[in-house]
Amino acid sequence: MLSKSQESPENCYTQLKFTQSARSAWKHILHHFNVKSPNKILLPPYIGITDREGSGIFDPVRETQTPFDFYRLDDRLGVDLFHLEKMLAEGQYKVLLMAHYFGFCRTDLGKLRSLCYQYGVILVEDCAHALGLHLQKTNLGTVGDFTVYSLHKFLPLAKGGILRVNNPNFGIAAPDPLDRLESDLVQQFSGYDLQKIIERRLGNFKFLYGLLAGQDGIEIMYDLMEGDVPHDFPILVKNGLREKLYFLLMDMGIPTTALYYRLIDDIKSQGFEGMQEISKNILNLPLHQDVDKADLELMAEKIKLALNKLNP
Ligand SMILES: Cc1ncc(COP(=O)(O)O)c(C=O)c1O
Repeated sequence: MLSKSQESPENCYTQLKFTQSARSAWKHILHHFNVKSPNKILLPPYIGITDREGSGIFDPVRETQTPFDFYRLDDRLGVDLFHLEKMLAEGQYKVLLMAHYFGFCRTDLGKLRSLCYQYGVILVEDCAHALGLHLQKTNLGTVGDFTVYSLHKFLPLAKGGILRVNNPNFGIAAPDPLDRLESDLVQQFSGYDLQKIIERRLGNFKFLYGLLAGQDGIEIMYDLMEGDVPHDFPILVKNGLREKLYFLLMDMGIPTTALYYRLIDDIKSQGFEGMQEISKNILNLPLHQDVDKADLELMAEKIKLALNKLNP
C-alpha cells in the first residue's frame, strides 16, 4: 500500500551506537556474547600495548576474561585464510576480530565473510584506523556483523567510538550510560565531512608515495588500492634503524609513531616472528587532514637526510 510519507525506520539506516572509545564498543560486544571455555574468540597476532594507553584490542579481552587464540596474518597484516579455515573447522571459535590496520585491508573480505557464515562465527571488524563510515568507495566496516570505530584517531576529538551493527539479527543492547559518548561530542562528530577528510588523506598518501618511492633504507608497506582509507603512511625501516630514525626525526621536528613498537606478551611468547619483525621495523608517518604538501615535502626531505646519516 502506498504510504503518504516515509514511515520505515530501517530503510537506508545504519545502526550506530556511540561509545567512549573503540575499546568500550569492543568490550560491549564481548560482554554481550560472553564466550566461555571451552569456546574461544580469535584475535589477530598483531596487537600493541603501551604503558600510557594499554591495549585497545586486548584490554577488553583480559577484562572480560574471554578465552582466546590467535589466527595468522601475512607480512601485510592480511588474514591467512587457508590456515584460518583449519582453525574454524575445530568448532570452538565463536567470535573473530579482524583489524584494518592503518586503514588498509589486504584480506579477501568476501571469503572471510563466507568462512564465518559457514562455521557460525561472529565477525567483528576493527575499523579503529579506518573511519570510512558512509563512504561509497569503501566496504571496510560493512562486512562484519559488527564494526568498531575510533573517532579520536581520525578527528580532532578527545575521545569517542562507534559500535556499528550490520547484522540486525543480533539484538545487542545499548551500551551502559557511562560508556556512551556525550551528546556534545556526537554533535561535533556529525559536523565533520568524512568524505573530504579521507580524500585529503588519500591525496596525501599518493603525494608522499611519489616522494618516497624507491628510497633506499625503507620499504613502503602498501600500494594504494580501491577501498583504502589511510590513517597514516606505514613504512618498514631497514637495517634495524627504526628506533634511531624515529628519534632523529623527532629532533628534526618531524613527529612519527610506531604502531606497534611493543606487542602484547601473549603474542611474543607464542613466536609469531613475522609480526615481531614488523613491530621492530615499522614507522607510521602522519598524513592526516591538517598536513599539506609543503609539510610532506619537508618530511620526505628530512627522512632522506636522516637515512643518509644513518646509512653512510
Ligand atoms: C587496531 C586498534 N583497535 C582498537 C583500538 C582502540 O581504540 P580506542 O582508543 O578508541 O579505544 C586501537 C587503539 O588503541 C587500535 O590501534
